[in-house]
Amino acid sequence: MTTTAKKRLLTGIKPTGDIHLGNYFGTMRQLLDFQESHESYVFIADYHALNQIQDGAQLMKNSLETAKAYLAIGLDPQKVTLFRQSDVPQHAELTWIFNTLTPMSTLELAHAYKDALVNGKQANVGLFDYPVLMAADILLYDPEIVPVGSDQRQHVEIAREIARKFNNTFGDTFLEPKEMIRDEVALVPGTDGRKMSKSYNNVIGLFATPEETKKACMSIVTDSRGVTDIKDPATCNIFALHKLFSKEGLRELSERYRAGTISYKESKELLAENINTTLAPMRAKKAELDAEPEYVLSVLEAGKHKATARAQAKMSDVRKRCGFNAKP
Ligand code: ADP
Ligand code: TRP
Repeated sequence: MTTTAKKRLLTGIKPTGDIHLGNYFGTMRQLLDFQESHESYVFIADYHALNQIQDGAQLMKNSLETAKAYLAIGLDPQKVTLFRQSDVPQHAELTWIFNTLTPMSTLELAHAYKDALVNGKQANVGLFDYPVLMAADILLYDPEIVPVGSDQRQHVEIAREIARKFNNTFGDTFLEPKEMIRDEVALVPGTDGRKMSKSYNNVIGLFATPEETKKACMSIVTDSRGVTDIKDPATCNIFALHKLFSKEGLRELSERYRAGTISYKESKELLAENINTTLAPMRAKKAELDAEPEYVLSVLEAGKHKATARAQAKMSDVRKRCGFNAKP
């Protein structure tokens, strides 16, 4: 019997608030397809979140909520190593080593930092260094594939650059990872038509109640066409979300748009109904997990041990190459 080694996959999500549809379609859902075929590492990026959330109780709560979210969407902890980034401090150690190999100019071009400057925000060193921490997150585990949203493409490129730099300097140590971005869901629009994002206050929560979902749907921004006006599905913010939730009726819906036989109000109501029906099972699972905090902690504890074993082995090699060993 021949066994082929599974390809390794790794991704992280910042526990910065309630999980929304953009997170789910952009990143989280892909993991379900991969948990059978890939050796998957999924972590809660709480070191990253510390740039935004400097309140211990809040960050701890968000981290647990994020873990529950992954489990509720169907991640199987027997198949996937689910862990908290701060449970594996090797991420921070490797970041320091990578810092010494990363030109300031690379980070000055990174978009999160550039955006902060453009928006007149005071960027801290942690935000500036974010891509380096992310490179450490990735390279510690030698994944072949890194599933992310399209906004993270540049960060994975930087991770490849850092891997190359380390390999050229200290010898072959790291694999150059590839991002995996699904084009058809590359950008889930929010209720105002911009990218759905916590920062824009335009989200529909993955675990929102049916009423909250309906309220968010009714607030979707449209033009002012009336019931019988001809409407263009291609430019409609409601329709963009129908594409994710109303697959079966999509053609009919599109015909009704073009024929002027549906109001935006009806389209929104239909969308809310379809979202609520589609998400009901995972919302129910989330409610079950809310009642079992000990179980969730035990999953993270097991993940910590598995991730630490791999991270320690990798760091032992890295430390030697850097000259941190006591003896030759
Ligand atoms: P937010 O913009 O709400 O702060 P995050 O930056 O925490 O979201 O995103 C977490 C993950 O979800 C990232 O991989 C990101 O690319 C993905 N993601 C977030 N919003 C969207 C969206 N609207 N469409 C597609 N993917 C998204
Ligand atoms: N920066 C990612 C985001 O904002 C989260 C993240 C941190 C990540 N480290 C990672 C994603 C490593 C993939 C791999 O979504």
